[in-house]
Amino acid sequence: MTQAPTPLDRNAAKSKYGPWAVIAGASDGTGEGFARELAAMGINLLLISRRREVLEALGEELKAAHGIEYRVHVQDLMVEGAGQAIIDAASDLDVGLYVSNAGADAVGKGFIDEPLERWLGMITMNVTTVVETCYHFGRKMRERGGGGLLVMSSGSALGGIPFLSMYSSTKAFEGNFCEGLWAELKPHNVDVLSVLAPLMDTPCFRRNTEGTGFLMAASLAWDPFVISQRSLDWLPHGPLLIFPNLTNEEDRLAEMDERRARVEGSMALGESFNEPA
Ligand SMILES: NC(=O)c1ccc[n+]([C@@H]2O[C@H](COP(=O)([O-])OP(=O)(O)OC[C@H]3O[C@@H](n4cnc5c(N)ncnc54)[C@H](OP(=O)(O)O)[C@@H]3O)[C@@H](O)[C@H]2O)c1
Repeated sequence: MTQAPTPLDRNAAKSKYGPWAVIAGASDGTGEGFARELAAMGINLLLISRRREVLEALGEELKAAHGIEYRVHVQDLMVEGAGQAIIDAASDLDVGLYVSNAGADAVGKGFIDEPLERWLGMITMNVTTVVETCYHFGRKMRERGGGGLLVMSSGSALGGIPFLSMYSSTKAFEGNFCEGLWAELKPHNVDVLSVLAPLMDTPCFRRNTEGTGFLMAASLAWDPFVISQRSLDWLPHGPLLIFPNLTNEEDRLAEMDERRARVEGSMALGESFNEPA
C-alpha cells in the first residue's frame, strides 16, 4: 500500500478485533488513545499498567460513554512472569486484539553506566513479554479465525542510537519480529502491525526530558492520540507503519513498501523449511 489507508470501518473492526481487546500500557499516551478509539468502536477492554486508579477512572469513563465492559489488571511488564500474568487475566475473554503499547526507555543513559538489571528489565518488557503474549494470543486468534496484534515500536528501530543502545535494539526486535509474524499469520486472517512511532508528546516523554537539555522540543513531537488513531487505521495493512520524524512522508511510504516486499519475497524461502526434501 503506497498511500495512507482510509479510516478503519468501526463495525468491521468491532467484529474482527472484538469483543475484547487487551492493552498492555493503557493508562496514558498512545495506550490511552488506543483505549479511547477501541471503546468508541464498542470493543470491551482489558486495561493493563502499574496504576490501578488511573486505569479504573479511564475504564469507568469509557463504560459510561460507550457502554462497553472493562477490566483492570495491575502488572509491571518488566518483571519475569508478566506475560503469563496477562494471559491468566484474559483467560476467560474472547480476545480479538492484543496491543503491546508500553516500552519506552525511561533511562536514556550510557549502556555501561547503568546497573545491568535495568537493561534486563527493558528486555523483559520489550522482548520476553511481547513474545509470550503474541505467542499466546496469536495461537488463540488463529483458532478463532481472525484478530490483530499491534506492537508499538519506534523509529529508533531503524538503526542503533547512542545512549539508546538497548532501547533501539529491543525496538528493532519488535519490528523484525512483527514483519515475519505478519506473513505467517496473514493466511489465518490475523493482522500484525508494528508501529515505528515518531517522537510523541506523552507523559513519559515529558517526564524523561524535563529539566534536561534534550534537543528535540516537545512542540516538534506528535500528539499521541493521532498516532493511536492512525495506527489502528493501518492495522489491516502491516507489517510496519513507519512515521516520519522530521523526514519526508513519501520516503517512509517507499521504505514501508520496500520492507513489505522483502518479507513477501522471503515467504517461499521460509515455507520451504517446512516442506519435505
Ligand atoms: N514517546 C515517544 O516519543 C516515543 C517515540 C517512539 C516510540 N515510542 C513508543 O511508544 C510506546 C508508548 O510510549 P510512551 O512515551 O507513551 O511511554 P511508555 O512508558 O512506553 O507507555 C506509557 C504507558 O505504559 C505503561 N507502562 C510503562 N512502563 C510500564 C511497566 N513497566 N509496566 C506496566 N506498564 C507500564 C504506563 O502506565 P503506568 O505508568 O500506569 O504503568 C502507560 O500506560 C512505547 O512502546 C515507546 O517505545 C514512544
